[in-house]
Amino acid sequence: MADLLDVRQLRAGYGEAVVLQDVSLSLAEGHTLALLGRNGTGKTTFINTLAGATRQHGGRIRLGDAELHRLAPHERAAAGIGWVPQERNIFKSLTVHENLTAVARPGRWQPARVYEMFPRLAERKGNLGTQLSGGEQQMLAVGRALVLNPRLLLLDEPLEGLAPIIVEELLKAIRRITREEGLSAIIVEQHPQAILAIADQAVVLDRGTVVHQGAAAALLARPDLLDSLLGVSR
Ligand SMILES: Nc1ncnc2c1ncn2[C@@H]1O[C@H](COP(=O)(O)OP(=O)(O)OP(=O)(O)O)[C@@H](O)[C@H]1O
Ligand SMILES: [Mg+2]
Repeated sequence: MADLLDVRQLRAGYGEAVVLQDVSLSLAEGHTLALLGRNGTGKTTFINTLAGATRQHGGRIRLGDAELHRLAPHERAAAGIGWVPQERNIFKSLTVHENLTAVARPGRWQPARVYEMFPRLAERKGNLGTQLSGGEQQMLAVGRALVLNPRLLLLDEPLEGLAPIIVEELLKAIRRITREEGLSAIIVEQHPQAILAIADQAVVLDRGTVVHQGAAAALLARPDLLDSLLGVSR
């Protein structure tokens, strides 16, 4: 079976600046990819390029039968990209429930299903986005991407800056979405162990290029390699 996502020799950046050089990777349907790398290595740029929010200088991105290059961001959402940006964009002036119903599209993920997975959101259905904690905002951002019923979920540092108990709740939900429900996903994370334990595949970026690609379990079993790839000194 053909891969769901196929990225070939991608070059992308902002204006004339090229951040990603020659990035190639692919992802099978139902698989999860952990995208790792130090600060400023191009992880967000990669995710944003899939979503259509950067300038693509070269290469190809195919999702299913769609060539994404020429599609505007909203057309990419229609083609199956579900994007949760690093800055968690939710509508702060709308309630939790309005945030979910405003974007819901037909499919297995409906607001009721999101509430079942995140009971905290169910309790805060009528609260405005401004009245949510950082963790609740992140849950809502994930919920909003899910109710689009995407083919590929993009999560950019979903655990960043959250309290340990919220991190646990989100990890459980991400595990359920990917492992149990089988939704394909790319997850960017600075704390790699937790995500590598969920992911099938791992890609490490450094200075805009792929410096490691392989099975997530294999990388998880090699803490020395992981540390050196991420520039952590022991
Ligand atoms: N809007 C922008 N315009 C110009 N350059 C940018 C822009 N956003 C990011 N960059 C540059 O692109 C490079 C990669 O940034 P990116 O945000 O993709 O890194 P990252 O791996 O996501 O980092 P972090 O782990 O800190 O989130 C950096 O050198 C950054 O300065
Ligand atoms: Mg980033």
